[in-house]
Amino acid sequence: MSTQTLTKLPAILDPTKMPQHIAAIMDGNGRWAKQQGLPRIAGHQQGAKTVKSLLRCCKDWGIANFTVYAFSTENWRRPAAEVDFLMKLFEGLLDSELAKLHEEGVRVRFLGDRSQVPIGLQRMMDKSISTTEHNRAVTFNIAINYGGRHEILQACKSIATLIRAGELDPQSIDESVFTQYLDTTGLPDPDLLIRTSGEQRLSNFLLWQLAYTELYITNTHWPDFSNDEFTQAIADYQQRDRRFGKV
Ligand code: IPE
Ligand code: IPE
Ligand code: MG
Repeated sequence: MSTQTLTKLPAILDPTKMPQHIAAIMDGNGRWAKQQGLPRIAGHQQGAKTVKSLLRCCKDWGIANFTVYAFSTENWRRPAAEVDFLMKLFEGLLDSELAKLHEEGVRVRFLGDRSQVPIGLQRMMDKSISTTEHNRAVTFNIAINYGGRHEILQACKSIATLIRAGELDPQSIDESVFTQYLDTTGLPDPDLLIRTSGEQRLSNFLLWQLAYTELYITNTHWPDFSNDEFTQAIADYQQRDRRFGKV
């Protein structure tokens, strides 16, 4: 991100109907690379540029929360070399971008189980959180070793432990209590979920939080997902009639 370039709100967007939280399943890095005749890792590198560009849009357009799915609990099943590359890429990017993110007022948070990620990355995650915790321009949530089912089970374990200790009454557990034990505590649910590269599934992403989220699925691969298509996704969202079960 750079301080010079301010991305103006595109004229087709209604500033009074902007989503407050956009989440993205960044898919298709591998297919993009294959199309270019490059190794899969080149797709991941290119995909990081899309993230930077969209985070800039979120900040400039007043979208308070941006959440990206970077690595799922299932992605450990990939070849070790690719997993290793991704972990080093995340660590390297946080290291090289942290100062700029902080300067831009970005608050960095993480979703997922940190205990399983390499120690170097864990340290960089901690540093990113503590450096940016008072920033309020935009909250950037990165899901690393994240799985929706895992997150819900963790919440259940935390709650069960409190009940056993006599510190929580089971009858008091409602949706607002339950969500305090999710990784997303304090964040509004996503208004809009974008999935690139055409798959029509959630792949274990934000299972609780997406209950009423509007979906935008595109065949575009993540590295090719431009600010213009991001604008299109938001414009599409602004046309939706969100009924939440009402008539
Ligand atoms: C998404 O792109 C990035 C991660 C899951 C880390 P993929 O790597 O899944 O790309 P495709 O689906 O193989 O094209
Ligand atoms: C979802 O993409 C996970 C991330 C984007 C991090 P995958 O490529 O792993 O999803 P599947 O395997 O096609 O469901
Ligand atoms: Mg994929």
